[in-house]
Formats: sequence, C-alpha cells, structure tokens
Amino acid sequence: MRVTFLGQAGLYLETEQGTILCDPWFNPAFFASWFPFPSNDDIDLESISHPDYLYVSHLHHDHFDPEFLRDHVDKRATVLLPEYPIEQLERELRELGFQRFVKTRSAEPVELDGLRIMIVSLVAPTDGPIGDSGLALDDGRTRIFNQNDSRPIDLEPLREFGHFDGYFLQFSGAIWYPMVYDFPQRMIQNLGRKKRQNEMARAKRYVEEIGASYVFPSAGPPCFLDPDLFHFNDFDRDPSNTFPDQTVFIEYLAEHGIDSGRLLLPGSVTTLLDGRCEVRHPSEDAVEAVFDDKRAYLEAYQARKLPEIRRRKAAWPHGRVDDLIGELKRWWEPLLAQADLTCAGVNGRVLLEVLDEDLGDEQVVIDFLDRRVDAWKGEPCRYRFRLQRPLVETCVLERHEDWVNELFLSCRFVASREGPFNEYIYNWFKGLSPERLQYAEGWYAEQAPSQELIELDGYLVQRRCPHLKADLAQFGVVEDGVLTCRMHGWQFDLATGRCLTSDDRRLHSIPAEQAERAAQADADAIG
Ligand code: FES
Repeated sequence: MRVTFLGQAGLYLETEQGTILCDPWFNPAFFASWFPFPSNDDIDLESISHPDYLYVSHLHHDHFDPEFLRDHVDKRATVLLPEYPIEQLERELRELGFQRFVKTRSAEPVELDGLRIMIVSLVAPTDGPIGDSGLALDDGRTRIFNQNDSRPIDLEPLREFGHFDGYFLQFSGAIWYPMVYDFPQRMIQNLGRKKRQNEMARAKRYVEEIGASYVFPSAGPPCFLDPDLFHFNDFDRDPSNTFPDQTVFIEYLAEHGIDSGRLLLPGSVTTLLDGRCEVRHPSEDAVEAVFDDKRAYLEAYQARKLPEIRRRKAAWPHGRVDDLIGELKRWWEPLLAQADLTCAGVNGRVLLEVLDEDLGDEQVVIDFLDRRVDAWKGEPCRYRFRLQRPLVETCVLERHEDWVNELFLSCRFVASREGPFNEYIYNWFKGLSPERLQYAEGWYAEQAPSQELIELDGYLVQRRCPHLKADLAQFGVVEDGVLTCRMHGWQFDLATGRCLTSDDRRLHSIPAEQAERAAQADADAIG
C-alpha cells in the first residue's frame, strides 16, 4: 500500500484494488483561521482528483472541505459513509454532486472488490459535529487504521480486524481552550501545559493499545496565519502551548520507549508492504526547511497567504442583519421550548456580546431558565462570549446549525465563565436545529437511569423515538393505532411496537390499562 500524506488528516491511499482519498483539506477553515501545517500547496491536485473511493471522516472543515471537493474531486468516486445518526454528511456530499455511497455500519467490516474496510463511528453530542469516525483498511497485504481525530471507545472490533501496519492519529490540540478564555495569563499557561500533556498522553495510550508497527502523527496541529491569531502557533516548543507539532510527539513517544513514530510532511510518500515501511519526503531538505526555524517558515507561509486572508475577511457580511436579536429570538426560542434536558444542564444564562465599532455593540442573553432570547438587561450570566458581528451575521445568514464547527473553532472570540466548564452550553451551540437538538436531548435522556414513558392514545410508550430520539410527547401523532414521529416520519404499530419504517428498531409500548392492572396487582401483593 502506498500512502501519500496530504496534510492535516488528508491521505491518498493506493492499493492494487483501488484508491481512497481521505479528508482532503486545502482551503483555510473556520473563518480563515486554520491552515494546514506544514503547507500542502505543492501537492499535485490532479494526481489525487480521481479516486475510486472518497472517505470524509466528519464534517469539521479541516476534514470536509466543500470548495476542494466541489472543484477538484471526480464525482464518480464512491463515498465510504460512516454511520451517523444525522445524515448531514451524506446530504452535503450529495449536494456537491457525489452520487455513489456505501453506507457502512459502525465497526462492521465490509468487503469492496478485494478491499476490506471498517469505519468506526462515534456519535455522542460531544464527538465532532455530532459524529466523528476512523477508517480501517486491509488490502490483503497491508492493514492501516486512520483514526484521525476520532476517539474510539471500544477497541475490540479494531483488534479483531487484525494487526495494523500503519496507524494515523491525532496527538495535538484542535480547540479554542484555554487560549480564548479571559483567565489570568498564568492560569492559561497552566491549563495549556496540562492540556498539552493530556493530549499526548491520551494519544500514547491509543498507540499502546492499537499496537501498530508504525505510527504516523496526523490530523493536526493546524497553523494560524492571520496576524490576529499568529501567536497561537507553537514556534519554539512552548510547554504551555496546546499545538505541539509532529516532531514533538514523535520525541515524546521515543522518551516513553516507543520508536515506531514516523514523520510525514504533505507530499511524503510511505510504502507499507510486508511489514516494512519506507518514507520518502518531497525533497531532501524538506524536514529541515520546516522545523529548523519554524517561526521563519511560518512567517514566509503567512506572507504568501495574507492576500487570501484579507480577501476572505473582506467578504464577511457586515450590517446585513437588521434585527439581530429578533432573528436569534425567532430561531432559538422554539428550540429552547423543546430543550428540557439542555436547559436543566445549563441551568443559567449565557450572554453573547456582539461587537461592532460602526454599528455599535449588541448584547443578547440566552436565558435557559426562562427559555427566552432577549436584549440583555444586566441579568447574571454564567457564560459570556464576545464575538465580532460579521461572524455572527454569517452564522445567522447562512443559518448554521452548528456554531461550534463554524464559529468557535475559528478561535476568533473571547469567553469568560463563572464556575466550571459546562458541556451543555457548547452542545447547545452544536444543535441549533430541531433535528440536532432532539438528538442531543435524546442522548441525555438515554444516559438517565430509567426510560421515561408517556401515554399516547391509550398506550404507555417510550418517550424517545427509537429512530433518532425525538421527544414523542411533542413529535408523536397517533392515527388508527399507528404512531408517526413527525421528526422524520417513522411509524410504529402501537399494539405490537413493530416499526413500520425500518426492521431494526422497536418501540416499547404497552396498553395503559394493562400497565395499570399490573401496577394494581403489585400494590395488592405488597399490601
Ligand atoms: S427521530 Fe426520526 S422519526 Fe423520530
């Protein structure tokens, strides 16, 4: 198997049975904040544009680059699709013109014309933009696992897949924490130090568990080339910086007795065959050119990209949303009305300070106690986010259902909070549509010790839809003994619990009278 590294989590896999293009990323992501590190500008795009298969692990824009896929990738490629509860990845790829899909089941191997593949999907609200995945591939002579930035919980299916010759995984930060918090500098450094260590320790743990012959650090770190963000880069191995590079991690592994780490640069070609590994870099001095003086390398990279950054920033909307608070109110209040568990989890208010020198600042409170969105009148708030107006306008105009993926990952904001981190708040910003919100609500409900039942048309039924966990108290309608969930239209026969839409889900349902009689019998027996 020949693997060309494309930067970040991008791989071009060549086997005798076909080629697979994985997570190609070439355009800056998250409001022009993230760029691939090192630069992948010299990759010959034509040579990777006609793959047999395309694998996009998830919707984060350093993995899913719609501009690149639209303009460069042959739409005849067959997409290897992870099993996700929400079908947004498939929808987006279809919109780009892809038509052939292999829908995999998580952790179940599939044979494809001589290739054995298995995609492991992670689907908690905290996994990526509700969904992240890794790809295992076996071409008969070589086996690899491209975990990228997913975090598999159950490693047994991976062990059963067989010994891996190559293992590609994330080891570095890919999030805004702690840099954007307005904590004292000392505290940011301490938190950063801890995070850097934890990330590498977690990756090392995976390396030990997977036990592959060769380990390739991938899926980060990105670099930040906008002058506003340039200081986030780890120029000189600062122990408190959360973006250590590939060389740091390979050394870290070696310090812990693991010498299987191999450095890849965009354009490096690795041949994995019969247990051997040979890496060829794009040029003889390619490694030194990047890492000997990383600051100088990044400054030169920045100078090349500044015109593009300026062009992209100039295109951000400004003053195109007249009634910002009204827009957010109309969008979010209906969601708050459905968000019982999210509201209970946040249990407070969140303040968005939308900053603009020309139009004036606006302060919007999201009140999870009273379930309303309004102009802020000084109420105490647990979290505050200071955001530039063009970014918020973009999210409103483009109706982004996942602000974490669009806005927060840009690192172009300042956050403050009282008390500890609250996961529900960030999950709220990931779930800004009824479908996404219901999924998160259902997920929380399932974590609760017992399943809640509701009464519908003389039956006690589970409150959460067996499909994607929508609240049936709100979305369920019954007609002629058939319960229809209006979220996606799945139907269930109330008398038997049988699903009329799919054959692998059942609804727990019991006639209310029968349940009452059973409860009465229990009470009599105790009495
Ligand atoms: S959540 Fe999809 S049909 Fe109910």
